[in-house]
Amino acid sequence: PGAPLVDTHGRVHRDLRISLTDRCSLRCTYCMPEQGNEWLAKTSILTLDEIETVARVAAADGITTFRLTGGEPLLRTDIVEVVRRLAAIAGPDGRPVEIAMTTNGIRLRELLPDLVDAGLDRLNVSIDTLRPDRFRDLTRRDRLSDVLDGIAAAAASPLRPLKLNAVAMRGVNDDELVDLVEFAVAHDAQMRFIEQMPLDAGHTWDRSSMVTQDEILGRLAARWTLTPVPGRGGAPAARWTLDGGPDTVGVIASVTAPFCGDCDRLRLTADGQLRNCLFSTTEYDLLPLLRGAADVTTAIDGMLRSCVRGKLPGHAINDPSFLQPARGMNAIGG
Ligand code: GTP
Ligand code: 5AD
Ligand code: SF4
Repeated sequence: PGAPLVDTHGRVHRDLRISLTDRCSLRCTYCMPEQGNEWLAKTSILTLDEIETVARVAAADGITTFRLTGGEPLLRTDIVEVVRRLAAIAGPDGRPVEIAMTTNGIRLRELLPDLVDAGLDRLNVSIDTLRPDRFRDLTRRDRLSDVLDGIAAAAASPLRPLKLNAVAMRGVNDDELVDLVEFAVAHDAQMRFIEQMPLDAGHTWDRSSMVTQDEILGRLAARWTLTPVPGRGGAPAARWTLDGGPDTVGVIASVTAPFCGDCDRLRLTADGQLRNCLFSTTEYDLLPLLRGAADVTTAIDGMLRSCVRGKLPGHAINDPSFLQPARGMNAIGG
């Protein structure tokens, strides 16, 4: 315990994405079916204490960022307490960990003051379209105004950098990319476009309908001069400045330009499974350890190391033999 989490390809793991629930207030077509997925059993959902236990071991092993995801993390009734408990954790060097969250923005306006007070450091908010009719079709819920309220609240908060995410989709929002960037800039936020990945419930993803990084950049280049920002580190988004100014736009090109070689992430699902990749088909079960091991810290540490040891060099989306993981995106956490 206490040694860094280095895998067999030399990648040091510093980021743990913690999915707090598989439930969501939206039904984005690229994520969940209309009726939702079969939800995880309530009894298998990690409690506040269990999440904290895992996080403490992870921080001792060199994890410096916890990103809270879902489903929709703000649906957890104890979300503020989760943030407060995790924000109180320090790494072996005594430095506090960073707490980030990825949310659909609904309920953000009411919860943001308490989240900031509890120690939240950073926010990413998903917004795929600015048009109410499109939002309704894409998410199957009429909630755009709630999301916009949430983003306005985030813009008015001290949390920076603020990032907005949009999955680029042909015939859905690919004519809105410039509008989305302008919206983000007006909110002092960084717009990021995401290549759609094969993680949809219906397994309907196909390469030809995916909007690629090149196409995204082509559309933006018609409006701005894009200059690459150097020094990406392990970040999934490559970034460009707009007309040489302070604002940037990012592209997360997991399919056409995978960043697996620099991946520093692990994932914990709401039901206590560790995953070493968004696309992994193996999971490492912490639940029986959390609920029965004599020495929980040693047991969790051992499982973190097994999970890291089992990590493959990269995903296989581009292989003909690629198989989508059984677990849906809403139960992985993005
Ligand atoms: P930052 O640390 O702020 O850059 O956050 P992030 O971009 O990693 O997190 P966010 O939850 O906003 O995710 C944005 C998109 O990146 C989503 O589509 C995620 O599924 C995707 N993503 C995040 N981590 C990984 C990863 O390790 N591999 C792949 N392929 N995609 C990822
Ligand atoms: N491909 C790419 N990104 C996705 N997200 C959800 N499903 C997919 C997919 N199939 C994104 C959401 C959110 C983040 C957590 O993951 O839009 O911004
Ligand atoms: Fe909910 Fe996010 Fe899935 Fe949309 S992508 S249904 S906001 S979990």
